[in-house]
Amino acid sequence: MEEQIKSMQEEAMQELKQVKEQKELNEIRVKFLGKKGKLTAILRGMGALSKEERPRIGSLANEVRDTIENIIQEKEIYFERQAMEEKLEKETIDITLPSKKIRTGSKHPINRVIEEIEDIFVSMGYDVMSGPELETDEYCFERLNLPKGHPARDMQDSFYITEEYLLRTQTSSVQARTMMANKEKTPIRMICPGKTYRREDDATHSHQFGQVEGLVIDKDITLAHLKGTLEEFVKRMLGENLQLRFRPSYFPFTEPSYEVDVSCFKCGGKGCNLCKQTGWIEILGSGMVHPHVLQMNGYDPEKYSGFAFGTGLDRLAMFKYGITDVRLLYTNDVRFLNQFNRKDVD
Ligand code: DAH
Repeated sequence: MEEQIKSMQEEAMQELKQVKEQKELNEIRVKFLGKKGKLTAILRGMGALSKEERPRIGSLANEVRDTIENIIQEKEIYFERQAMEEKLEKETIDITLPSKKIRTGSKHPINRVIEEIEDIFVSMGYDVMSGPELETDEYCFERLNLPKGHPARDMQDSFYITEEYLLRTQTSSVQARTMMANKEKTPIRMICPGKTYRREDDATHSHQFGQVEGLVIDKDITLAHLKGTLEEFVKRMLGENLQLRFRPSYFPFTEPSYEVDVSCFKCGGKGCNLCKQTGWIEILGSGMVHPHVLQMNGYDPEKYSGFAFGTGLDRLAMFKYGITDVRLLYTNDVRFLNQFNRKDVD
C-alpha cells in the first residue's frame, strides 16, 4: 500500500507540473484527494493492514495529502497573481485621453454677498453672530420696543407658529439676544446675517429673504460713528464714488432713525428706471439704539449709547450683480447659478 500511495503521489506531481490553467488544479484536487479520489480509494484497503502498519500508512497518507494540497494552493496563488498582472497590463490607463469635464458648483450670489459683508465688518473689528430663525415674540418684538399691540408690528406680517413663537421677521432679534447674552454688559460690535420670513406672496416679494443686522454699543457712540461706518460699508460693497443720503424715518428700536439711500449706481444719480428717476436707491434702515431698548436689555442708557442698522441681502445681491428678478435668487436655475462660477464675478 505504501507503494501505491507513493506512486499515486508521483502521478499527482507529474500532473501538477503540467498544469497550465487554474481550473485544472481543482480537477487534480478532485481526482487525487476528493471523496471519490485515488487516495481515498487506496485507503479503503486499510482494513487489510496489520495494527502496526495502520498508523504508519495513515500518517503517510496525511503527509502525501498535505504535500499535494500545498502544491495545489501554491499554484492557485501563482495563477491568481498572474491573472491579476495580466489584467493590470491590459488595463493600463492612457493618460493622453481627454478627460471628462468635472462640474463644480458655484457660490450662490447671496452667500457671496454675505461673505463680502463679513469680510468688511470683520476687518473693522466686528463679531459675526447668528440667532434662531424660529424666534420668540419677546426677542423679535418686545425687547426691541415693540410691545404687543404696537401699531408698528403691522409693518411686518409675521408667520406665527404659536402665540409665542414665530419665524423671525427681522434679524434685529439678534440685537436683543446679543445684549442679553452679554452678562458683563461690555461693548458690542456685531453683525448678524441670516434668513428672515414674512407673509408676503406677491411677484416682487418672497416669503423668505435675507437680512444683515449690525449693532454697536459702547460709551460715547454718536451718529457720526453710524454715518462713517455705513459710508465705509456701502462704498466698499457697491462702489467708491457713491453718495449716501440719510433720510429721517421711523423704527421702534432706534431714535433717531434713518433710511439710507445711495446714489444710483446705474445712472450715477441722473435718473433711470432702476432708481425710478429719483437718482437714489434706498438700501438700509438705521439709527441710534433707543434708550428703552438699551435699558430693556440690561445696558444703562446713561452710560452707553449705540447704533444699529439693517439691510436686505437680496437687494444688495441684486444691485451688485445686476439681477432684475428676485425670484432668480430662490428658484435654483443652474443656468443662472453657473454665472457665479467665474473668477471675474467678484
Ligand atoms: N429690522 C428692520 C426691518 O426689517 C431694519 C432695521 C432698521 C434694522 C433700523 C435696524 C435698524 O437695526 O436700526 O425693516
